[in-house]
Amino acid sequence: MKDLYADIDYVLIDEEKMQARINELAQMIDTDYGDSDNLLFLCILKGGYMFMSDLSRACKAPHVIDFMAVSSYGDSTTSSGAVQIALDLKSSIEGWDVLIVEDIIDTGLTLSYLLENLKARKPKSLKICSLLSKPVRHKVEIPIDYLGFEVPDEFVVGYGLDFAQLYRNLPFIAVLKPEVFS
Ligand code: IMP
Ligand code: MG
Repeated sequence: MKDLYADIDYVLIDEEKMQARINELAQMIDTDYGDSDNLLFLCILKGGYMFMSDLSRACKAPHVIDFMAVSSYGDSTTSSGAVQIALDLKSSIEGWDVLIVEDIIDTGLTLSYLLENLKARKPKSLKICSLLSKPVRHKVEIPIDYLGFEVPDEFVVGYGLDFAQLYRNLPFIAVLKPEVFS
């Protein structure tokens, strides 16, 4: 069996720190959306699945969940810029308070495309909750309403984030050894 842990250079954000921050985000979201009757958590697949699962459990505000899948990366570690919707919503979001739940904002190109696409569907409100952000890599400005952590310009894996589709199941955010990429 391949040992995923053997490929890790170092852990950037451990489980304890992660869960503590998610609880803080959940409290902010509960406060801000406490009066909403139609709150939708929109998870961006695949990377957002683990964050969505923990955030949804930590929030007390009633909400429904849905998923979209977008791809902009393939198996490489650099953004292609082109965004493709691989799985779209089946229901209308018109009149809904939509909270996008995303794994990481790197260049911001994926979310800037998604924001425009979703705005056109006339939600009542549209906000972003991202677990991670790499500020030095941003190419477009994205308003991040709820942010877990800023990370340095390193390719990170774990807690939903992959390299070549692997490492998503690691329960923390880590940086891989350089030789893994070659
Ligand atoms: P962006 O369009 O450049 O902001 O990147 C969007 C997507 O690229 C994210 O939702 C991730 O799926 C992926 N991505 C960006 N940086 C990383 C990283 O460091 N590790 C794993 N996936 C990443
Ligand atoms: Mg990815």
